[in-house]
Amino acid sequence: MIRARAVQVKNTKTVMADTMPAQYYIGLMSGTSLDGVDGVIVDYQCQKVLAQTYQPYSEQIKQDLRQLTQSGETSLAGLADIDTQVANAFSNAALVLLSESGISANQIVAIGSHGQTIYHQGGYYSMQIAHGALIAEQTGIKTVADFRMQDVAAGGQGAPLTPMYHHFLLNNTRGVVINLGGIANITQVTDSSIVGFDIGPANTLLDNWIKCHKPLDYDQNGLWSKSGLIDQALLDKLLADGYFQQLPPKSTGPEYFNLKWLSRFLTGNEAPEDVQRTLVELTAITISRHITDNTKVYLCGGGVHNAFLIERLTCLNADSNIMTTNELGIHVDYVEAAAFAYFAKRTLAQQPSNLTSVTNAKRSRILGAIYAN
Ligand SMILES: Nc1ncnc2c1ncn2[C@@H]1O[C@H](COP(=O)(O)OP(=O)(O)O)[C@@H](O)[C@H]1O
Ligand SMILES: [Mg+2]
Repeated sequence: MIRARAVQVKNTKTVMADTMPAQYYIGLMSGTSLDGVDGVIVDYQCQKVLAQTYQPYSEQIKQDLRQLTQSGETSLAGLADIDTQVANAFSNAALVLLSESGISANQIVAIGSHGQTIYHQGGYYSMQIAHGALIAEQTGIKTVADFRMQDVAAGGQGAPLTPMYHHFLLNNTRGVVINLGGIANITQVTDSSIVGFDIGPANTLLDNWIKCHKPLDYDQNGLWSKSGLIDQALLDKLLADGYFQQLPPKSTGPEYFNLKWLSRFLTGNEAPEDVQRTLVELTAITISRHITDNTKVYLCGGGVHNAFLIERLTCLNADSNIMTTNELGIHVDYVEAAAFAYFAKRTLAQQPSNLTSVTNAKRSRILGAIYAN
């Protein structure tokens, strides 16, 4: 994975650290790929990333999270244990950001921590672990966490939340932002509306299928998929799934798009690399259906590093301008983390962070629970 593992600091004025008023925010995020924690320190406007880190989960945490999210089952003691371990990983990412940037904890207004989703049923329940109380205690920084449940309680999907931040980054210009995480989500901003929803799988099926056949976490640069051929019959069956036909608002997750879902469409005679190739095409086609010609499209998320997926997206949308969020000033790997820093700021200012046009909640809501020391 092409990731900036080392923290890069653009603002080096840390000499007066202890006497300066709190002015920055930290955002922490781990998505459905279950790969690890992305963390950023952003400026007061939440427009510039001052420091960034990626802290991969340990193999044990990855294994435990996969087992938990795929089976949907654990004991209360098991839940307490994984919650604590993942909170430690989130706190650690915040502490790495501080130590490597030279920015001190008292310069941070708050941490916005998305946590790790382990269960999501839009409109009913959404559960993120990495307890905010532990993060606040371990970092000494006020922490806002559990952003989704208030939207869900107000009748919303609880997802996607990032469209409000994408809209902010677009700065009143028209455009489309697409996050290629485990799931692909899209934000379409026109002069008169903001539409956002989960399109379907981006990396989650690709990651899980390669794991069944090779000792790899993901298909590096899409090379394995590139070696296969599209299985048209399989592709047609996958594309016919009801989720892709459903109109927004809608959200989804690996609870739905998983190997069990895929296996319903397989005959058992397919070459594994052909399935991988077909899954790339599924992602590329389902995304392309929502890109109209002559649109500025800004991609972000780990899927941007899948060169073959990007090749297919660019080819299917030759009449649009496909770029990345780097053009909007936020590196592709850190948009989501920065979004949760922005949401923490909004929560503390008692401003809502859900767009009812996106999540279908009855009303805008101030999101998250605040853990102060
Ligand atoms: N070099 C690469 N080649 C192919 N896929 C990659 C590469 N780097 C990252 N990815 C994909 O990106 C995923 C992580 O993306 P991320 O944005 O962190 O997703 P999430 O928000 O779901 O955690 C990995 O699981 C992998 O599928
Ligand atoms: Mg991730």
